[in-house]
Amino acid sequence: MSVRRYRIGAPIPTESVVKDIPAEEGNLPGWKLQTDKEGIVSLSISMTPDTIVYGLGETLRGINKRGWLYTSNCTDDPHHWEDKHSLYAAHNFLLIVSEDSCLGLYVDTPGIVDFDIGYSRIDLLSIRLNDGAADLYLVDGFSAPRQIVREFRSLIGQSYIPPRWALGFGQSRWGYRSADDIREVVTKYEEAGIPLDMMYLDIDYMERFKDFTINRETFPDFDQFVQEMRSRGVRLVPIIDAGVKIEEGYSVYEEGVQNGYFCRKENGEYLTAAVWPGRVHFPDFLNEQARAWFGSQYRFLLDKGIEGFWNDMNEPAIFYTEDHLKEVFEGIEQYRDKNLDIQSFFDFKSLVGSVDNNPEDYKRFYHAYHGRKIRHDKVHNLYGYYMTRAAGEFFTRHCPDKRILMFSRASYIGMHRYGGIWTGDNRSWWSHILLNLQQMPGLNMCGFIYAGADMGGFGADATEDLVLRWTALAIFMPLMRNHSARGTRRQELYQFTQTAAFRNLVRLRYALLPYLYSEMMKAILQNDMLMIPLAFEYPADHRAAHVEDQLLVGGSIMIAPVYQQNAEGRYVYLPEDMTLLRFRSPEDFDREILSAGDHYVPCALHEVLVFLRKGHVLPLAQIPDDDTFRGSRDLKELPLQYLAFDADPAFYEMYRDENFERN
Ligand code: NOJ
Repeated sequence: MSVRRYRIGAPIPTESVVKDIPAEEGNLPGWKLQTDKEGIVSLSISMTPDTIVYGLGETLRGINKRGWLYTSNCTDDPHHWEDKHSLYAAHNFLLIVSEDSCLGLYVDTPGIVDFDIGYSRIDLLSIRLNDGAADLYLVDGFSAPRQIVREFRSLIGQSYIPPRWALGFGQSRWGYRSADDIREVVTKYEEAGIPLDMMYLDIDYMERFKDFTINRETFPDFDQFVQEMRSRGVRLVPIIDAGVKIEEGYSVYEEGVQNGYFCRKENGEYLTAAVWPGRVHFPDFLNEQARAWFGSQYRFLLDKGIEGFWNDMNEPAIFYTEDHLKEVFEGIEQYRDKNLDIQSFFDFKSLVGSVDNNPEDYKRFYHAYHGRKIRHDKVHNLYGYYMTRAAGEFFTRHCPDKRILMFSRASYIGMHRYGGIWTGDNRSWWSHILLNLQQMPGLNMCGFIYAGADMGGFGADATEDLVLRWTALAIFMPLMRNHSARGTRRQELYQFTQTAAFRNLVRLRYALLPYLYSEMMKAILQNDMLMIPLAFEYPADHRAAHVEDQLLVGGSIMIAPVYQQNAEGRYVYLPEDMTLLRFRSPEDFDREILSAGDHYVPCALHEVLVFLRKGHVLPLAQIPDDDTFRGSRDLKELPLQYLAFDADPAFYEMYRDENFERN
């Protein structure tokens, strides 16, 4: 048996695993188990100097997770700094690779888990179960890391499949206020000759930020607008937030209240929190009926011709709860007119700062889950997953033959069956280009194949060179979306001077799309990865094991993006002989065979480096170099050109299944 289950305590079910594996008696072999006075359970294992630890999905830091403390606790934190421990997701899968062993461990619990990977002690990996309970799935018996990943993925079920057009390029910004704002962006993309498949609608399309409503003043004829955009080849993808605005006469609110679908406090009242719309209630996505009800609300937009969504603020993010705000206002009173000294000043400051995303607020409300009343903090990490599941289950009921685009901010493993993810509020920082690359293998291991970061950076002001370099990486991500925050510098690709370079980067994305789509489908259908660390493919190569800024994308190519400002190229490590394809556009590129080893490879701002593996083929769609090509809808008829390195193009055709082309 390659997957074994061990149970600690009585964990709350997560429904992340699809196989029923009976629990084994006794302790997890090879691990030391300890329970402290508070009932917190830790399990630990020693690491040799060569041990590499992969996994944990959406987290900070490198591909090798060694040397930090990671906490699975879905958090709305826009500061993705090196000193942070949590992002929006809880992806508790580790892959521990040493010279003579290879082991997968999935810690299945909705509670908070700390992964101390050589942080407290450089040679120790220890896992703290704050709730003292978990199902531990041990995957072993294979020497290849990739095989461990496949076993784990078959345990958690097949990943979500997006529609094919969702691999096109999308533009987003928090701050497009009206249909006219959107039209203007689309027109400018058309004028610049840059293909575009999606325009994302952030919260401003709603009527006062109420889910499943349209602002009729700024989007006067929404149905017609959806069609108008479709006729220009662009799909609108609206955002949905977790909180439902409290407002008399608003049907989503009223239905939720009447049917008891919102989360309640201990005293039975609905919890009142606040997010963008002001005061909201949180739907109890963990309750089956509430979930079915919330899912069916997506119909409002599907009926208007919408085919894709992004779920946001579903950790859930809380600006304040009414109860805690009251406590804060009362607390502030005692500081009035006081001469605030060092201690009282910091106390005052932390009181005011405790208003939003306060962990104590997660203890104020409850879910009806599996026939039990469960306090939110005990199942906190499931909330985003179950919101997206609400939508996914409805899509399956409502339109089983259609693929609907769906991705979420918060997630837990299991959600990968219902949607993809984006990595939240990064910044227009060079280090976040690298972070984008480093997050992908972990996400893939945990089943999140349709994933990507806000290209160009969400927060902070972007520069032209940064957006060029970031775009050159994002063309390989299944989710390629330029998104930015209100108040930051505009970063649509036509805003800058080098329009031709941006145009060719996006054209190259579309040229690569048949390859990317097929490779993505292979990864999904075979429980495999699309974005692969070099070590997985070249296990005997010690150098490859430590490469943190290159990835294999599918079977044929390796990427090595430039992520440093003012760099004119970069060092690239080649584990085998490869053909360097230096692209300036889909039709303008040079080829050079490079031998295995280290190379300094020049790469100008408008260029993209692709390394074609020996014995492999890269198909490229021949994108016309005129304005006739607008996006994925124009891709179907285009012939493919095959770039091969000591390989027969027929080899590629062999696995290109026609079913992959389904929309
Ligand atoms: C937070 C999300 O992470 C961001 O992408 C979005 O623009 C804002 N919420 C506003 O909806």
